[in-house]
Amino acid sequence: MIKGNKEKTLKKNIDLSKIPKHVAIIMDGNGRWAKKRFLPRTAGHREGVNRVKEIVEVSGDMGIKYLTIYAFSTENWNRPKDEVNYLMGLLIEFIKKELKTIIKNDVKINVLGDINRLSPILKKEIENTIELTKQNKKLVLNIALNYGGRDEIIRGIKMVFEDINNDRIDIEDINEESFKKYLYTKDQPDPDLLIRTSGEMRLSNFLIYQNAYTEFVFSDVYWPDFNTMEYYKCIKEYQNRNRRFGGL
Ligand code: IPE
Ligand code: IPE
Ligand code: MG
Repeated sequence: MIKGNKEKTLKKNIDLSKIPKHVAIIMDGNGRWAKKRFLPRTAGHREGVNRVKEIVEVSGDMGIKYLTIYAFSTENWNRPKDEVNYLMGLLIEFIKKELKTIIKNDVKINVLGDINRLSPILKKEIENTIELTKQNKKLVLNIALNYGGRDEIIRGIKMVFEDINNDRIDIEDINEESFKKYLYTKDQPDPDLLIRTSGEMRLSNFLIYQNAYTEFVFSDVYWPDFNTMEYYKCIKEYQNRNRRFGGL
């Protein structure tokens, strides 16, 4: 009950005229959350999925238009095979179980990253979900999956070269704005707010082009503990920032 009241107070303090349009989240600390409870790391990943559902719903309700969650990095392939398989399995489960709710909540699913390296089953589920949610309008949920910021930029450069070689564009037309079309986030605004949980303060190869002027908020709680209240705290902190973009 006390927690409920606190959440309400925090919610009331949020300035609805200053809601970030795009929030990006590095969901970190699942393993440590589990370890603290003498549970296998996988238990942390499973509980983490519940926070994903919660945060997606709250984001839509708050009026956030784009939510990008870092689910699996290009470097995460270096983890033990069992853990990688478990994470991929969880993703399939999430997509299958949540599809109805996602559609009901008017959420459009988009994936940032190369899905060709994923298992054929997961790839098919993703393509199906993207197709079934493409008309949805309330919130775009970008799932960064097999995503790496450097990989994304190199991929973009290759696409630019192809377009130049095929006379589709002129080299003079490449600039900071037009290059964005070659990124996975094409046509989307840059993140206004980046949240990383678990107390780590690094980017870990996440949206390195798009985050040039993003506000960073670091939360000490592990991702499976990152509930609505913790989210509101981060939004509030963001709203107290003074964004200058190099100006005065
Ligand atoms: C984040 O939690 C989830 C993924 C990277 C997939 P971690 O698995 O990184 O948990 P910690 O950082 O080891 O505690
Ligand atoms: C970043 O977390 C990747 C995701 C959250 C998917 P990591 O746990 O992989 O990052 P590092 O290794 O601590 O930098
Ligand atoms: Mg981690």
